[in-house]
Amino acid sequence: MTQHSVAEAARAVRIPAPARFVRETDSTNSDLLRLAMNGAPAWTVLVAGHQTAGRGRLGRTWISEPGSSLLLSVLLRPALPPADAPLLSLGAALAVATACADVADAPVRCKWPNDLVVRERKVGGILPEAAVAGGRLEHVVIGIGTNVLQRAEDFPPELRDTATSLAQEGRAPTLADLLEAVLRSLRGELGGAGEVRPDLLARYRDRCVTLGRRVRATLSGDVHVEGMAVGVGRGGELLVETAQGPRPVAFGEVVHLD
Ligand code: BTN
Repeated sequence: MTQHSVAEAARAVRIPAPARFVRETDSTNSDLLRLAMNGAPAWTVLVAGHQTAGRGRLGRTWISEPGSSLLLSVLLRPALPPADAPLLSLGAALAVATACADVADAPVRCKWPNDLVVRERKVGGILPEAAVAGGRLEHVVIGIGTNVLQRAEDFPPELRDTATSLAQEGRAPTLADLLEAVLRSLRGELGGAGEVRPDLLARYRDRCVTLGRRVRATLSGDVHVEGMAVGVGRGGELLVETAQGPRPVAFGEVVHLD
């Protein structure tokens, strides 16, 4: 990708803020969080050709080879209470999954909360990072990483059984075409001000592979919730039916047990 193709994609979907491409950076989320603190406008987009210290959820690293992944962050300044921030990340996951599925013609689904999976293998993920000030959401950076062109042998050995790419699961899109589809889908899902649509949860539930599965959610170290995932609540939490009764799970790592 180039600055030109990123700007073209943003222009095609009327992104109302600067869209920048950097060949290499440590993490687009870290960069955009800094820009947000310095007043960057809503819908500022930062795309990287490569990240040297990409970050994932739960303090993990996000590894990618140069030129094979779509790596970007989008800045939102939504007029939402902080409690609704999880809905934004479900909305982003739904938007990116839909765009990937359409462009690559692949059955991309969401694993709660915001992993993108095909056949139980991870094809992408979302890292939302929010800043709260005076009891309201100051800004939210939505980081998006998608494996696009990798062959199986391109993944490190420890990821080969659990990771996949759009090229392996469907048609290989160009990174520029996928970027345009992702931005269009995000604009449609999160609206001009970054708010969520009223039917978000119904559509998220339809695309979520976690529902109807036995799951183990790790909340911290040795605190687990195990049972059947039966729903997604109004705040975006996973509803788990356990032997002790229903439990809402607001965050954490979820493993499908069957
Ligand atoms: C996950 O753990 O599944 C979320 C991964 C998110 C990775 C993306 S790549 C672009 C953006 N910049 C980062 O450092 N992380 C996110």
